Amino acid sequence: MARLQNLLCIVCLLGLAATQDMPYEELAAQIQACPKECRCPPNFPRAVYCDNKGLKNLPKIPPYTWYLYLQNNLIEALSSNALQNATQLRWINLNRNKITSEGVGDVLSSMTNLAHLYMDDNLLSSVPSPLPASLEHLRLSRNRISKIPAGVFVGLEKLSLLDLQGNKLMDDAVTEVSLKGLNSLVQINLAKNQLSKMPLGLPPSTTQLYLDGNNIDKIPAGYFKGLPKMAFLRLNNNKLGSSGFPKDVFNRSSILDLQLSYNQLTEVPLISSGLEHLHLDHNKITYVNGSKICPVSVDAVDDSLNESVPQLRYLRLDGNEINPPIPRDVITCFRFLRSIVI
Ligand SMILES: *[C@@H]1O[C@H](CO)[C@@H](O)[C@H](O)[C@H]1NC(C)=O
Ligand SMILES: *[C@@H]1O[C@H](CO)[C@@H](O)[C@H](O)[C@H]1NC(C)=O
Ligand SMILES: *[C@@H]1O[C@H](CO)[C@@H](O)[C@H](O)[C@H]1NC(C)=O
Ligand SMILES: *[C@@H]1O[C@H](CO)[C@@H](O)[C@H](O)[C@H]1NC(C)=O
Repeated sequence: MARLQNLLCIVCLLGLAATQDMPYEELAAQIQACPKECRCPPNFPRAVYCDNKGLKNLPKIPPYTWYLYLQNNLIEALSSNALQNATQLRWINLNRNKITSEGVGDVLSSMTNLAHLYMDDNLLSSVPSPLPASLEHLRLSRNRISKIPAGVFVGLEKLSLLDLQGNKLMDDAVTEVSLKGLNSLVQINLAKNQLSKMPLGLPPSTTQLYLDGNNIDKIPAGYFKGLPKMAFLRLNNNKLGSSGFPKDVFNRSSILDLQLSYNQLTEVPLISSGLEHLHLDHNKITYVNGSKICPVSVDAVDDSLNESVPQLRYLRLDGNEINPPIPRDVITCFRFLRSIVI
C-alpha cells in the first residue's frame, strides 16, 4: 500500500516537471533514488538538496543530478561509491564541511561535466588533484591550502575563476609551474595568504587579481606587461611603500580599478588616463600635486573632450596626512571625478 502511494505520488509530481527537459523514465528514476536525507524538488528534478543536515557521509546521489547542494554538513570524505551513478553533475556546493585533501581522493576527475566546484571552508591542505577538464569555477577559500600541485591546472581550458583566498600559500607555492594551464583565467583571488611577492606565472587572460591582506612589499618593473587585460587590481592591506615599485608600474591603460588602501605609500602613484577608481586611503601620503599626478598635461585637459581625458571617477585619499582643501589642479585634471574622499 505504501508502495502504491509512493508511485501515485511520483505520478502526480511528474505533471509539475514539465518545465524541465527530462524524459519520463529518467525523472521517475531520479525521484525514486532521492536519498531520505535530501530533498529532490519534482519541479526542479536536476537539483538535489542535502545541505544543513549534519551529514557525516555523502548520501547516494541520484543518477540524473546536475546541481548538488551539500553545504553546512560534517562530511570528511568524498566517497566514490556514493557518487558512482551521478555522472552528470555540473555544480557541487560542498562549502562548510570537514573535507581533507586525503578525503577528496580522485573522484573529481571522473566528473566530466562538472563546471562549478565550491569547497570553501573545509580542511584542504592542497588544491585537489586531479581536477576535471570541464571545470569553470573553482572556489577553495578559507581552507589550509599551502600547496598547488605542479600541473594541476594543465588541460583546464575552461577555468575562468579561481578563488584561493584565506589559505596558507607562500611565494614558492604560486609559480609558473603550479599555475600552468590556466589559459582562460579571468579572476584569481589570492587575498589573505602569506605572499611577500607578486605571484608569478599568471596567464595573459587575467582580468581581476585580488591580493589583499598579504605581505607584498615590491612589484617588479613591467610586472603588468605580460597581463594586457588586467583591469581590477586589489592590493589593499599589504606593505607597499612608494619605493617598492617603479613609478610607472600602474600606468597601464587596461587598469580600471586600482586599490592600494592600507599600505605605506608616501606618494600618489602614476596612473593612466583610463583608470576609473583609485583607492589610496590609509597610507602615508602628505601632499597631492594635481599636475604631477595628472596622466596628461593639465593644460591639455581643458580643451580636449576626447579619449585622452582622464577617466577617474572615484578617488579615496582619507586616512592619509593630507590637509584640505583639495588642490584645484586635481579637479581641473580629473573632470569626471564624481566623488573624492579626503
Ligand atoms: C546505481 O544505480 C544502480 C542501478 O539503478 C543501483 O542498483 C545502485 O544502487 C546505484 N548505486 C548508487 C550508489 O546509487
Ligand atoms: C604612461 O603610459 C603611456 C602609454 O604607454 C605613455 O604614453 C605615458 O608617457 C606614460 N606616462 C608616464 C608618466 O610615464
Ligand atoms: C607640482 O608638480 C609640477 C610638475 O611636476 C611642478 O612643476 C610644480 O612645481 C609642483 N607644484 C608644487 C606646489 O609643488
Ligand atoms: C585628443 O586631445 C589631445 C589634447 O587636446 C590632442 O593632442 C589629441 O590629438 C586628441 N586626439 C583625438 C583622437 O582627437
